[in-house]
Amino acid sequence: MSPTSTPDVLVVGGGIIGLVTAWRAAQRGLATAVVDPEPGGGAARVAAGMLAAVTELHYGEETLLGLNLASARRYPDFAAELTELTGHGLGYRRCGTLAVALDADDRAHLRELHALQQRSGLEAQWLSGRECRRLEPMLAPGVRGGLRVDGDHQIDPRRLAAALVSACERSGVSVHRARAERLVVTGGRATGVVTSDGTGLAAGQVVLAAGSLSGRLAGVPPHVLPPVRPVKGQVVRLTMPERPGTFLSRTVRAVVRGSHVYLVPRESGELVIGATSEEMGWDTTVTAGGVYELLRDAHELVPGITELALTETRAGLRPGSPDNAPLLGPTELEGLLLATGHYRNGVLLTPVTGDALADVLTTGELPPEARPFTPRRFGAAVLTEQPA
Ligand code: GLY
Repeated sequence: MSPTSTPDVLVVGGGIIGLVTAWRAAQRGLATAVVDPEPGGGAARVAAGMLAAVTELHYGEETLLGLNLASARRYPDFAAELTELTGHGLGYRRCGTLAVALDADDRAHLRELHALQQRSGLEAQWLSGRECRRLEPMLAPGVRGGLRVDGDHQIDPRRLAAALVSACERSGVSVHRARAERLVVTGGRATGVVTSDGTGLAAGQVVLAAGSLSGRLAGVPPHVLPPVRPVKGQVVRLTMPERPGTFLSRTVRAVVRGSHVYLVPRESGELVIGATSEEMGWDTTVTAGGVYELLRDAHELVPGITELALTETRAGLRPGSPDNAPLLGPTELEGLLLATGHYRNGVLLTPVTGDALADVLTTGELPPEARPFTPRRFGAAVLTEQPA
Protein backbone atom coordinates (compact mmCIF):
# COMPACT_ATOMS: atom_id res chain seq x y z
CA MET A 1 0.00 0.00 0.00
CA SER A 2 1.44 3.41 -0.87
CA PRO A 3 1.74 5.65 2.23
CA THR A 4 -0.55 8.27 0.69
CA SER A 5 -3.35 6.04 -0.62
CA THR A 6 -6.54 5.41 1.38
CA PRO A 7 -6.55 1.88 2.81
CA ASP A 8 -9.49 -0.46 2.40
CA VAL A 9 -9.47 -1.14 6.14
CA LEU A 10 -8.32 0.82 9.20
CA VAL A 11 -8.13 -1.17 12.44
CA VAL A 12 -8.40 0.95 15.59
CA GLY A 13 -6.38 -0.91 18.24
CA GLY A 14 -3.15 -2.87 17.91
CA GLY A 15 -3.64 -5.48 20.62
CA ILE A 16 -3.78 -9.13 19.58
CA ILE A 17 -7.38 -8.85 18.31
CA GLY A 18 -6.67 -5.77 16.18
CA LEU A 19 -3.42 -7.21 14.87
CA VAL A 20 -4.88 -10.57 13.90
CA THR A 21 -7.72 -8.76 12.13
CA ALA A 22 -5.26 -6.59 10.20
CA TRP A 23 -2.98 -9.51 9.31
CA ARG A 24 -5.81 -11.71 8.04
CA ALA A 25 -7.38 -8.80 6.12
CA ALA A 26 -4.04 -8.05 4.42
CA GLN A 27 -3.66 -11.71 3.51
CA ARG A 28 -7.00 -11.46 1.67
CA GLY A 29 -5.60 -8.64 -0.46
CA LEU A 30 -7.11 -5.70 1.41
CA ALA A 31 -4.90 -2.62 1.86
CA THR A 32 -4.88 -2.42 5.65
CA ALA A 33 -3.66 -0.04 8.36
CA VAL A 34 -3.60 -0.17 12.17
CA VAL A 35 -3.64 2.80 14.52
CA ASP A 36 -2.32 2.32 18.06
CA PRO A 37 0.23 4.21 20.19
CA GLU A 38 1.85 0.93 21.25
CA PRO A 39 1.14 -1.97 18.86
CA GLY A 40 1.42 -5.35 20.60
CA GLY A 41 0.48 -3.86 23.99
CA GLY A 42 -2.87 -4.03 25.76
CA ALA A 43 -4.31 -6.88 27.79
CA ALA A 44 -1.93 -9.43 26.18
CA ARG A 45 0.88 -7.89 28.29
CA VAL A 46 -0.90 -9.21 31.37
CA ALA A 47 -2.85 -12.31 30.25
CA ALA A 48 -1.74 -15.80 31.26
CA GLY A 49 -2.63 -17.26 27.86
CA MET A 50 -4.75 -20.26 28.84
CA LEU A 51 -6.55 -21.84 25.90
CA ALA A 52 -9.20 -23.21 28.22
CA ALA A 53 -12.45 -23.77 26.34
CA VAL A 54 -13.32 -26.81 28.47
CA THR A 55 -12.20 -25.81 31.99
CA GLU A 56 -13.62 -22.28 31.63
CA LEU A 57 -17.06 -23.52 30.54
CA HIS A 58 -19.90 -21.73 32.35
CA TYR A 59 -23.64 -22.41 32.54
CA GLY A 60 -25.57 -20.42 29.97
CA GLU A 61 -22.51 -19.92 27.74
CA GLU A 62 -23.01 -22.88 25.41
CA THR A 63 -23.10 -20.64 22.31
CA LEU A 64 -19.80 -19.08 23.30
CA LEU A 65 -18.44 -22.59 23.83
CA GLY A 66 -19.00 -23.28 20.13
CA LEU A 67 -16.88 -20.26 19.15
CA ASN A 68 -14.22 -21.09 21.77
CA LEU A 69 -13.93 -24.64 20.44
CA ALA A 70 -13.81 -23.42 16.84
CA SER A 71 -10.87 -21.21 17.79
CA ALA A 72 -9.11 -23.90 19.87
CA ARG A 73 -9.26 -26.23 16.84
CA ARG A 74 -7.54 -23.57 14.72
CA TYR A 75 -4.66 -23.04 17.17
CA PRO A 76 -2.17 -25.70 15.96
CA ASP A 77 -2.25 -24.48 12.33
CA PHE A 78 -2.50 -20.83 13.35
CA ALA A 79 0.57 -21.07 15.61
CA ALA A 80 2.56 -23.00 12.99
CA GLU A 81 1.68 -20.47 10.26
CA LEU A 82 2.59 -17.50 12.42
CA THR A 83 5.91 -19.02 13.49
CA GLU A 84 6.80 -20.00 9.93
CA LEU A 85 6.06 -16.50 8.64
CA THR A 86 7.77 -14.53 11.41
CA GLY A 87 10.34 -16.87 12.99
CA HIS A 88 8.81 -16.06 16.42
CA GLY A 89 8.15 -18.90 18.85
CA LEU A 90 4.81 -18.46 20.64
CA GLY A 91 5.35 -20.63 23.70
CA TYR A 92 2.47 -22.81 22.49
CA ARG A 93 2.31 -25.81 24.85
CA ARG A 94 -0.19 -28.64 24.47
CA CYS A 95 0.26 -29.36 28.15
CA GLY A 96 -3.32 -29.88 29.34
CA THR A 97 -4.99 -28.51 32.45
CA LEU A 98 -5.88 -29.92 35.86
CA ALA A 99 -8.77 -28.25 37.73
CA VAL A 100 -8.68 -29.31 41.38
CA ALA A 101 -10.87 -29.10 44.47
CA LEU A 102 -9.63 -28.29 47.99
CA ASP A 103 -12.79 -28.91 50.01
CA ALA A 104 -16.23 -30.50 49.77
CA ASP A 105 -17.81 -27.35 48.26
CA ASP A 106 -15.11 -27.09 45.55
CA ARG A 107 -15.54 -30.77 44.85
CA ALA A 108 -19.30 -30.39 44.39
CA HIS A 109 -18.68 -27.41 42.09
CA LEU A 110 -16.20 -29.42 39.99
CA ARG A 111 -18.61 -32.37 39.81
CA GLU A 112 -21.25 -29.98 38.41
CA LEU A 113 -18.76 -28.64 35.88
CA HIS A 114 -17.86 -32.19 34.88
CA ALA A 115 -21.54 -33.05 34.33
CA LEU A 116 -21.96 -29.92 32.17
CA GLN A 117 -18.84 -30.82 30.18
CA GLN A 118 -20.15 -34.34 29.60
CA ARG A 119 -23.56 -33.05 28.47
CA SER A 120 -21.68 -30.77 26.05
CA GLY A 121 -19.71 -33.71 24.61
CA LEU A 122 -16.37 -32.46 26.00
CA GLU A 123 -13.50 -34.64 27.17
CA ALA A 124 -12.63 -34.38 30.86
CA GLN A 125 -11.60 -37.12 33.26
CA TRP A 126 -12.45 -37.18 36.97
CA LEU A 127 -9.43 -37.98 39.19
CA SER A 128 -9.12 -38.70 42.91
CA GLY A 129 -6.87 -36.47 45.03
CA ARG A 130 -4.17 -39.12 44.95
CA GLU A 131 -4.34 -39.35 41.15
CA CYS A 132 -4.05 -35.55 40.92
CA ARG A 133 -0.90 -35.59 43.07
CA ARG A 134 0.56 -38.43 41.01
CA LEU A 135 0.27 -36.16 37.96
CA GLU A 136 1.47 -33.04 39.80
CA PRO A 137 3.48 -33.96 42.91
CA MET A 138 3.75 -30.32 44.08
CA LEU A 139 -0.02 -30.17 44.74
CA ALA A 140 -1.09 -29.76 48.37
CA PRO A 141 -1.89 -32.99 50.26
CA GLY A 142 -5.41 -31.62 50.90
CA VAL A 143 -6.48 -31.72 47.23
CA ARG A 144 -9.73 -33.73 47.21
CA GLY A 145 -10.11 -34.51 43.52
CA GLY A 146 -9.89 -32.91 40.13
CA LEU A 147 -10.68 -32.81 36.45
CA ARG A 148 -8.00 -33.68 33.94
CA VAL A 149 -8.53 -31.88 30.63
CA ASP A 150 -5.80 -32.75 28.17
CA GLY A 151 -7.31 -30.53 25.44
CA ASP A 152 -6.88 -27.19 27.28
CA HIS A 153 -3.48 -25.77 26.34
CA GLN A 154 -1.53 -22.51 26.71
CA ILE A 155 0.33 -19.90 24.69
CA ASP A 156 2.51 -16.96 25.75
CA PRO A 157 0.41 -13.85 24.90
CA ARG A 158 3.42 -11.51 24.84
CA ARG A 159 5.15 -13.68 22.27
CA LEU A 160 1.88 -13.99 20.34
CA ALA A 161 1.57 -10.19 20.26
CA ALA A 162 5.18 -9.76 19.08
CA ALA A 163 4.64 -12.35 16.33
CA LEU A 164 1.45 -10.63 15.17
CA VAL A 165 3.24 -7.25 14.96
CA SER A 166 5.85 -8.93 12.78
CA ALA A 167 3.22 -10.74 10.67
CA CYS A 168 1.48 -7.42 10.02
CA GLU A 169 4.76 -5.77 8.96
CA ARG A 170 5.58 -8.67 6.64
CA SER A 171 2.11 -8.60 5.12
CA GLY A 172 2.25 -4.91 4.22
CA VAL A 173 0.01 -3.54 6.98
CA SER A 174 0.74 0.16 7.68
CA VAL A 175 1.10 0.91 11.36
CA HIS A 176 0.32 4.40 12.70
CA ARG A 177 1.78 4.83 16.18
CA ALA A 178 -0.85 7.22 17.47
CA ARG A 179 -4.04 7.22 19.53
CA ALA A 180 -7.32 7.32 17.62
CA GLU A 181 -9.31 10.09 19.24
CA ARG A 182 -12.46 10.43 17.17
CA LEU A 183 -14.34 8.48 14.54
CA VAL A 184 -15.13 10.45 11.40
CA VAL A 185 -18.64 9.91 10.04
CA THR A 186 -19.39 11.37 6.62
CA GLY A 187 -22.78 11.08 4.93
CA GLY A 188 -23.98 8.48 7.45
CA ARG A 189 -20.90 6.29 7.00
CA ALA A 190 -17.71 5.73 9.02
CA THR A 191 -14.86 7.00 6.86
CA GLY A 192 -11.83 7.10 9.17
CA VAL A 193 -10.50 8.54 12.42
CA VAL A 194 -8.68 11.60 13.68
CA THR A 195 -5.70 10.87 15.92
CA SER A 196 -4.68 12.76 19.07
CA ASP A 197 -2.19 14.86 17.08
CA GLY A 198 -4.96 15.94 14.71
CA THR A 199 -3.99 13.69 11.79
CA GLY A 200 -6.88 12.38 9.72
CA LEU A 201 -6.72 8.72 8.66
CA ALA A 202 -9.32 7.80 6.04
CA ALA A 203 -10.35 4.24 5.14
CA GLY A 204 -12.99 2.30 3.25
CA GLN A 205 -14.01 0.38 6.41
CA VAL A 206 -13.10 0.94 10.07
CA VAL A 207 -12.77 -1.91 12.56
CA LEU A 208 -12.98 -0.88 16.22
CA ALA A 209 -10.79 -3.38 18.09
CA ALA A 210 -9.56 -1.34 21.03
CA GLY A 211 -10.29 -3.82 23.83
CA SER A 212 -11.73 -2.23 26.96
CA LEU A 213 -11.30 1.22 25.38
CA SER A 214 -13.67 0.37 22.52
CA GLY A 215 -16.63 2.01 24.23
CA ARG A 216 -14.79 5.32 24.57
CA LEU A 217 -13.99 6.39 21.01
CA ALA A 218 -15.50 9.86 20.50
CA GLY A 219 -17.68 10.38 17.45
CA VAL A 220 -19.24 6.90 17.52
CA PRO A 221 -23.01 7.41 17.51
CA PRO A 222 -24.50 6.25 20.86
CA HIS A 223 -26.64 3.52 19.29
CA VAL A 224 -23.56 1.73 17.89
CA LEU A 225 -21.12 2.40 20.73
CA PRO A 226 -20.10 -1.06 21.99
CA PRO A 227 -21.32 -1.87 25.53
CA VAL A 228 -17.83 -2.86 26.67
CA ARG A 229 -16.50 -2.18 30.16
CA PRO A 230 -13.10 -2.69 31.80
CA VAL A 231 -12.78 -5.67 34.18
CA LYS A 232 -9.53 -5.48 36.09
CA GLY A 233 -7.32 -8.53 36.46
CA GLN A 234 -4.18 -8.62 38.59
CA VAL A 235 -1.53 -11.31 38.03
CA VAL A 236 1.85 -12.17 39.51
CA ARG A 237 4.77 -13.84 37.79
CA LEU A 238 7.23 -16.13 39.58
CA THR A 239 10.25 -18.03 38.28
CA MET A 240 10.43 -21.83 38.61
CA PRO A 241 13.56 -23.99 38.91
CA GLU A 242 15.48 -24.38 35.68
CA ARG A 243 14.52 -27.92 34.64
CA PRO A 244 11.21 -27.59 32.66
CA GLY A 245 8.31 -29.60 34.05
CA THR A 246 9.85 -30.34 37.47
CA PHE A 247 7.72 -27.87 39.42
CA LEU A 248 4.42 -28.08 37.51
CA SER A 249 3.98 -29.73 34.13
CA ARG A 250 0.55 -28.35 33.22
CA THR A 251 -1.84 -25.54 34.10
CA VAL A 252 -3.40 -26.05 37.53
CA ARG A 253 -6.51 -24.16 38.53
CA ALA A 254 -9.20 -24.09 41.20
CA VAL A 255 -11.95 -22.00 42.71
CA VAL A 256 -10.81 -21.01 46.21
CA ARG A 257 -13.36 -19.22 48.45
CA GLY A 258 -15.32 -18.33 45.31
CA SER A 259 -12.32 -16.81 43.43
CA HIS A 260 -10.71 -18.37 40.40
CA VAL A 261 -6.99 -18.96 40.71
CA TYR A 262 -4.73 -20.53 38.11
CA LEU A 263 -1.04 -21.35 37.81
CA VAL A 264 0.33 -21.46 34.27
CA PRO A 265 3.86 -22.89 33.96
CA ARG A 266 5.79 -21.87 30.85
CA GLU A 267 8.71 -23.68 29.27
CA SER A 268 10.81 -20.56 29.90
CA GLY A 269 10.51 -21.14 33.66
CA GLU A 270 7.95 -18.40 34.17
CA LEU A 271 4.95 -19.28 36.37
CA VAL A 272 1.97 -16.97 35.89
CA ILE A 273 -0.54 -16.83 38.74
CA GLY A 274 -3.86 -15.12 38.06
CA ALA A 275 -6.20 -13.49 38.27
CA THR A 276 -8.40 -11.16 40.22
CA SER A 277 -11.66 -10.03 38.63
CA GLU A 278 -12.60 -6.54 39.74
CA GLU A 279 -15.12 -3.97 38.52
CA MET A 280 -12.97 -0.91 39.30
CA GLY A 281 -13.39 1.24 36.20
CA TRP A 282 -10.08 2.29 34.62
CA ASP A 283 -7.94 1.64 37.69
CA THR A 284 -4.89 -0.55 36.98
CA THR A 285 -3.18 -0.25 40.37
CA VAL A 286 -1.54 -3.43 41.59
CA THR A 287 -2.76 -3.69 45.17
CA ALA A 288 -1.26 -5.43 48.19
CA GLY A 289 -4.64 -7.09 48.72
CA GLY A 290 -4.82 -8.42 45.15
CA VAL A 291 -1.32 -9.87 45.27
CA TYR A 292 -1.92 -11.26 48.77
CA GLU A 293 -5.11 -13.07 47.68
CA LEU A 294 -3.50 -14.56 44.59
CA LEU A 295 -0.47 -15.82 46.51
CA ARG A 296 -2.61 -17.06 49.42
CA ASP A 297 -4.95 -19.03 47.12
CA ALA A 298 -2.12 -20.36 44.94
CA HIS A 299 -0.22 -21.38 48.08
CA GLU A 300 -3.20 -23.46 49.23
CA LEU A 301 -2.97 -25.38 45.95
CA VAL A 302 0.81 -25.55 45.58
CA PRO A 303 2.57 -24.73 48.87
CA GLY A 304 6.01 -24.77 47.22
CA ILE A 305 5.39 -21.46 45.42
CA THR A 306 6.72 -19.61 48.47
CA GLU A 307 10.25 -20.78 47.55
CA LEU A 308 10.11 -19.18 44.07
CA ALA A 309 11.38 -15.77 43.03
CA LEU A 310 8.63 -13.15 42.57
CA THR A 311 9.53 -11.40 39.31
CA GLU A 312 6.55 -9.28 38.30
CA THR A 313 3.17 -7.98 39.37
CA ARG A 314 0.80 -6.36 36.90
CA ALA A 315 -2.83 -5.42 36.33
CA GLY A 316 -4.75 -5.21 33.04
CA LEU A 317 -8.27 -4.58 31.82
CA ARG A 318 -10.40 -7.26 30.18
CA PRO A 319 -13.01 -5.95 27.75
CA GLY A 320 -16.20 -7.23 29.41
CA SER A 321 -19.50 -7.38 27.51
CA PRO A 322 -23.07 -7.81 28.84
CA ASP A 323 -23.14 -11.54 27.95
CA ASN A 324 -19.40 -12.24 28.35
CA ALA A 325 -19.10 -12.91 24.61
CA PRO A 326 -17.37 -10.86 21.90
CA LEU A 327 -18.94 -8.41 19.47
CA LEU A 328 -17.91 -9.33 15.94
CA GLY A 329 -18.80 -7.76 12.61
CA PRO A 330 -20.84 -4.90 11.14
CA THR A 331 -22.71 -2.35 13.22
CA GLU A 332 -25.76 -0.29 12.29
CA LEU A 333 -23.35 2.41 11.08
CA GLU A 334 -22.21 1.61 7.57
CA GLY A 335 -18.45 1.19 7.33
CA LEU A 336 -17.97 0.53 11.07
CA LEU A 337 -17.30 -3.01 12.31
CA LEU A 338 -16.43 -4.30 15.78
CA ALA A 339 -13.97 -6.89 17.05
CA THR A 340 -14.11 -6.38 20.80
CA GLY A 341 -15.68 -7.56 24.07
CA HIS A 342 -13.66 -10.79 24.24
CA TYR A 343 -13.61 -10.57 28.06
CA ARG A 344 -11.84 -13.67 29.50
CA ASN A 345 -11.24 -15.32 26.12
CA GLY A 346 -9.24 -12.87 24.00
CA VAL A 347 -6.18 -15.07 23.59
CA LEU A 348 -8.23 -18.20 22.88
CA LEU A 349 -10.47 -16.37 20.39
CA THR A 350 -7.66 -14.71 18.44
CA PRO A 351 -7.54 -17.18 15.49
CA VAL A 352 -11.29 -17.38 14.91
CA THR A 353 -11.68 -13.60 15.27
CA GLY A 354 -9.07 -12.96 12.58
CA ASP A 355 -10.78 -15.38 10.21
CA ALA A 356 -14.30 -14.09 10.90
CA LEU A 357 -13.34 -10.44 10.45
CA ALA A 358 -11.40 -11.17 7.25
CA ASP A 359 -14.50 -12.97 5.92
CA VAL A 360 -16.89 -10.17 6.70
CA LEU A 361 -14.50 -7.47 5.45
CA THR A 362 -14.16 -9.21 2.10
CA THR A 363 -17.65 -10.66 1.57
CA GLY A 364 -19.93 -8.59 3.82
CA GLU A 365 -21.04 -11.81 5.57
CA LEU A 366 -19.96 -13.24 8.91
CA PRO A 367 -19.16 -16.98 8.77
CA PRO A 368 -21.82 -19.18 10.49
CA GLU A 369 -19.83 -19.74 13.71
CA ALA A 370 -19.52 -15.96 14.27
CA ARG A 371 -23.10 -14.93 13.43
CA PRO A 372 -24.46 -15.27 17.01
CA PHE A 373 -21.88 -12.64 18.05
CA THR A 374 -23.13 -9.81 15.86
CA PRO A 375 -23.06 -6.48 17.76
CA ARG A 376 -26.67 -6.01 16.62
CA ARG A 377 -27.78 -8.46 19.34
CA PHE A 378 -27.58 -5.64 21.90
CA GLY A 379 -29.58 -2.98 20.12
CA ALA A 380 -28.77 0.45 21.57
CA ALA A 381 -25.78 0.28 23.89
CA VAL A 382 -26.32 0.88 27.60
CA LEU A 383 -23.20 2.37 29.12
CA THR A 384 -22.32 3.22 32.67
CA GLU A 385 -19.79 5.78 31.46
CA GLN A 386 -19.81 8.08 28.47
CA PRO A 387 -16.72 8.82 26.34
CA ALA A 388 -14.20 11.09 28.06
N1 GLY B 1 -9.09 -16.17 31.07
C1 GLY B 1 -8.49 -15.88 32.31
C2 GLY B 1 -8.81 -14.58 32.86
O1 GLY B 1 -9.44 -13.75 32.23
O2 GLY B 1 -8.42 -14.33 33.98
